[in-house]
Amino acid sequence: MSNVGTGPGPITPDGSSVDFYSLLRPGAEPDLVAQVTPPGGSVLELGAGVGRVTHALVERGFEVVAVDESAEMLARVRGVETVLGRVESLRLDRRFDTVMLASQLVNTVDDRSRRELLGSCARHVKSGGSVLIQWMPPEAHDRWHVGMGREDGDVTITMAAVEQVSPGIFHATMRYGHGEDTVWTQSFASKRLTDDELAADLTAEGLRLDRFLTEDRTWVVATTI
Ligand SMILES: C[S@@+](CC[C@H](N)C(=O)[O-])C[C@H]1O[C@@H](n2cnc3c(N)ncnc32)[C@H](O)[C@@H]1O
Repeated sequence: MSNVGTGPGPITPDGSSVDFYSLLRPGAEPDLVAQVTPPGGSVLELGAGVGRVTHALVERGFEVVAVDESAEMLARVRGVETVLGRVESLRLDRRFDTVMLASQLVNTVDDRSRRELLGSCARHVKSGGSVLIQWMPPEAHDRWHVGMGREDGDVTITMAAVEQVSPGIFHATMRYGHGEDTVWTQSFASKRLTDDELAADLTAEGLRLDRFLTEDRTWVVATTI
């Protein structure tokens, strides 16, 4: 299953709606970055989208470079250097205090792609710096069910479909609603990685799983070995 999205406006190759992500506000991400980054430090944000988090990081005084494969997403990012391209093949030849890989990109069902994503994190982080990864932990996959969701301002986010199609491989569709009748969907595949599997992939790319930053374990800090 390849990721796919529906709804008004441009949709990225991974099924994300540019207009939908423009409606969302930053959550805890800027605080989490501040916990692992020196004041005024450099941050490489991989899969930055429209800059939902980027802009908040700039307000906090961080020096951010925003990377995304979607030109339509990056066109909405303001006030920072943007790089159009895929994370896997990114080679900036410079290193950052913190590299952030959010949006559960690491839960890709393509094992080689996961290794390449983590390899990109490793070659862009300073020695002693932090790689901040947002993943979907195994116990969160186990709680997935149709109808679960949340509200974010005037946006509703609901899991419309979910199926474990083979051991540890999930196909899911999220429904995003806004106002009376604007609806987007995003269908994606997700691999239920165990802690050991994530740690092994990190180690293979020269990184070490250091700690979980949040109680729900969705944010992982890895460091250089
Ligand atoms: C779900 S959106 C979230 C954007 C942003 N991280 C946020 O939380 O607001 C995921 C973004 O990652 C980008 N993306 C997904 N896979 C990518 C890849 N392999 N390389 C570069 N960008 C990617 C998509 O184009 C999209 O803009």
